[in-house]
Amino acid sequence: MEKIIFDCDTGHDDAIAIAMAAGLKDEIEIVGIIASMGNSPLENTLRNTLNVAEAVGLECPVFRGSENPLVRQRVAAGDFHGESGLDGVSFPPRKRQECMGNGILWAIDTVMSHPGEITFVSVGPYTDLALCIKAEPGFAKALKKIVLMGGSMGRGNATPSAEFNIFADPEAAEIVYSSGAEIVAMGLDVTTKVTLTEEIHDRIRNMKDSGYKKLLLDQLAFYIRSNLTHNGSMPNMHDPCTIAYLADPGMFTLERHQVHVETKGELTYGRTVTGPVDETAPVSFGTDCDTERFWRLFFRSVGNLK
Ligand code: BDR
Ligand code: CA
Repeated sequence: MEKIIFDCDTGHDDAIAIAMAAGLKDEIEIVGIIASMGNSPLENTLRNTLNVAEAVGLECPVFRGSENPLVRQRVAAGDFHGESGLDGVSFPPRKRQECMGNGILWAIDTVMSHPGEITFVSVGPYTDLALCIKAEPGFAKALKKIVLMGGSMGRGNATPSAEFNIFADPEAAEIVYSSGAEIVAMGLDVTTKVTLTEEIHDRIRNMKDSGYKKLLLDQLAFYIRSNLTHNGSMPNMHDPCTIAYLADPGMFTLERHQVHVETKGELTYGRTVTGPVDETAPVSFGTDCDTERFWRLFFRSVGNLK
């Protein structure tokens, strides 16, 4: 059983990652979720996270995370995820509320009282994780590992150099990569190979009816349109790769590298700079995925949701 703290900036692919984790109850236990700014402002990502958590039947606490990056001005993912950060979906009035208290302090407390047991998964900017590492010197060592969506060993998507989650807080990403923790990063090199196809979309339409199926189809209707408009391609399953990795790591090919983040360059701000393959390095970057195995896991997980 993987016990995780899930840190997200809930837009469309974050929401699918949350749903997959919720559908894999025997393999993944979400101890708590922290919502951070990222795809859109914190008020949006927090509301979206609470709505999605309730819709997929998660009872874990949901905390408010960072409102701003550590150093840079906040950037948002344009209108990629729409005005609400999760356009296309309307949720019924919600019963659950955010958990009061500071998400960073809660995460530190939880990890430090369960050394070696908890994996921190971050699929938005890494601001919250960096704050935990800075505030508690033993935090990185006390984690089982860190699983990230972000970065790239080639080109970026927010700029030619930088992937969005890193670009949104490069200084935080550098703190995370320098922490010495064991890190698995699902960057664009692999996540852009895990792409929704028309055939998979049809298979989702043919799933047995459920509240979640309707939610998924509604959110995909917007997300597909948005991806076709902005990228000319179907959506990539960026954030769900982290959950797939936790449930079935063998579907991914990884390479170990030393990684640093460019925090000074005018054209390269937020670039993840990797050295040659180095078996002693603490960071494994995803390079490839057995996508058939990914979609098998996807249908098994979301098929468990009501
Ligand atoms: C990342 O950016 C966000 O918009 C997605 O949710 C994902 O975490 C991909 O670059
Ligand atoms: Ca995200």
